[in-house]
Amino acid sequence: MSFIERALERAARERKKNEALSAIRPKSPKPSVDFHELDPRIQAMMEDRTDAFEQYKLLRTMILNASQQNGERLVLVTSAVSGEGKTTTSVNLAISIAQSLQETALLIDCDLRNPQVHKMLGLERVSFGLANFLRHEVDLPQVLLKTSIPKLSLLPAGPPPENPSELINSRTMSIFLEEAKERYQNRLLIIDSPPINQFTDALILSLKVDGVLLVARAGKTRMNDLEAAVAKLKKANLIGIVLNSTDRLSSRYYYYY
Ligand SMILES: Nc1ncnc2c1ncn2[C@@H]1O[C@H](COP(=O)(O)OP(=O)(O)OP(=O)(O)O)[C@@H](O)[C@H]1O
Ligand SMILES: [Mg+2]
Repeated sequence: MSFIERALERAARERKKNEALSAIRPKSPKPSVDFHELDPRIQAMMEDRTDAFEQYKLLRTMILNASQQNGERLVLVTSAVSGEGKTTTSVNLAISIAQSLQETALLIDCDLRNPQVHKMLGLERVSFGLANFLRHEVDLPQVLLKTSIPKLSLLPAGPPPENPSELINSRTMSIFLEEAKERYQNRLLIIDSPPINQFTDALILSLKVDGVLLVARAGKTRMNDLEAAVAKLKKANLIGIVLNSTDRLSSRYYYYY
């Protein structure tokens, strides 16, 4: 094959690769999330200034204090088993931080297996997210979404990949978290994750973040499950346990630390 033929072949390959990439890249990379489409429970909480609203403000104060005193700005939210309120807590906490005077919040959905954060914020479906970024299919700005809540950005998980733990454990993930944290000094990063007793993802993440919040659900979480979760977190910085109680809609939230 001559030099010119090889060059033509290389150019054709390059063109094909670019076409493939532009096909998987989102057409509109920064859709804005409509406030009115928020999960009704979250919207009710924000509008009604409920007890839960006040409890999240307390939790926010605790997180902001930790961030000011110890520079802890990268916070993982996890729980022992599923359905205990990790996503509800992550979303409400991030909104509460965004509503503070100075801080901005970036909510990162690291539950690549069962991503729900975008749904709570009113997006039924997202075609691209963190998983695509970790597979080097898209650039970060294409998957960082501005929500219509001022100062709150969202990095959705994207379509569930086949190898979530490997992606979470990747070097790209570590570099991304470091850079996302370093970029803005007044930004808090809240990470939603899968249950720590069931998958390794949250355990891996717990060693890459500044602090971990463990969510337990009143009347549901079994003490031995909670103890197993705390034991798994012995090398991490467990900053608190949020007790998510469900005695009524948009119910009470307490926290211990
Ligand atoms: N305090 C609460 N009051 C009423 N419903 C709640 C409360 N907290 C969570 N829920 C509901 O319980 C269900 C599970 O909550 P959520 O999705 O936040 O849990 P999770 O720990 O993220 O679950 P998963 O492990 O499946 O990701 C959801 O339907 C949510 O709306
Ligand atoms: Mg969840």
